[in-house]
Amino acid sequence: MVLHSRIFSHHVVSFLLLISCGMTYGTDTDIFCLKTIKDALEDPNNYLKFSWDFNNRTEGFICKFIGVECWHPDENKVLNLRLSNMGLKGQFPRTIQNCSSLTGLDLSINKLSGTIPGDISTLVPFVTSLDLSSNEFSGAIPVTLSNCTFLNSLKLDQNRLTGQIPLQFGILSRLKIFSVSNNLLTGQVPTFSSQVSVNYANNQGLCGGNGLGSCQAKSSKSNMAVIAGAAAGGVTLAALGLAVGMFFFVRRVSFKKEEDPEGNKWARSLKGTKQIKAS
Ligand SMILES: *[C@@H]1O[C@H](CO)[C@@H](O)[C@H](O)[C@H]1NC(C)=O
Ligand SMILES: *[C@@H]1O[C@H](CO)[C@@H](O)[C@H](O)[C@H]1NC(C)=O
Ligand SMILES: *[C@@H]1O[C@H](CO)[C@@H](O)[C@H](O)[C@H]1NC(C)=O
Repeated sequence: MVLHSRIFSHHVVSFLLLISCGMTYGTDTDIFCLKTIKDALEDPNNYLKFSWDFNNRTEGFICKFIGVECWHPDENKVLNLRLSNMGLKGQFPRTIQNCSSLTGLDLSINKLSGTIPGDISTLVPFVTSLDLSSNEFSGAIPVTLSNCTFLNSLKLDQNRLTGQIPLQFGILSRLKIFSVSNNLLTGQVPTFSSQVSVNYANNQGLCGGNGLGSCQAKSSKSNMAVIAGAAAGGVTLAALGLAVGMFFFVRRVSFKKEEDPEGNKWARSLKGTKQIKAS
């Protein structure tokens, strides 16, 4: 009896939840979100093609899709999207903004390319975890990511990102993990609190952070390098001029030699033999 009434009350609660959710949240937007992401991304291994079936619509049906984690198993509201290592191609899927309650996005180890959208903070405003590592993203890291104030973990390693890391990232008070290794980043890194674990390895020229050179020393060093380079360049230019002069001189001498009738005759006879051989 107790069990029965428990099950009954559970059903009633679920039913009420369902109604209230259906009314409170436009969960159709989350379905639209996943549908448009599926359409936008190239999926050569057919992970999404087979798993993301939008034809049989029951409450919570998207929660059974591969890579989709919902707030509640029978409510079409996406909490996390984890599409790591699926061979996906294309640009950053902008319609992710329709998964309006998303707190985690993992698109790592795919072949996504193009830039990270400059307005990414309006596309995923509540993310606590964003992993775009091991893709082919290029261009700058958008400064607006500093408006994603819930970020705990931001991983952008192993892409082709260029330019400076926005210094504004220093204001991300919840940040614990920040990694940008294996990119082409340059310049001064943000000042983070000691709670942030950073990875800057293998970039083109980052400075001013843990385990990095100081930016001042680096710039004066590079000034020295420019001066030294210019001096070496001057010497090289002179040597090059000399070499060119020598080349023409030698060429003229050897050209004169080729005018030698004996040499010409020998060359012509060689040509003759070749023609005979060919026919
Ligand atoms: C998707 O998001 C955009 C921008 O917020 C909005 O204009 C649009 O109505 C949404 N689409 C659906 C189907 O919810
Ligand atoms: C729709 O999905 C439900 C639950 O997954 C399943 O029981 C049912 O057989 C499906 N219907 C069709 C027509 O595929
Ligand atoms: C980011 O936040 C700042 C301050 O809250 C605001 O002025 C700016 O417009 C925001 N930028 C974006 C792209 O949301």
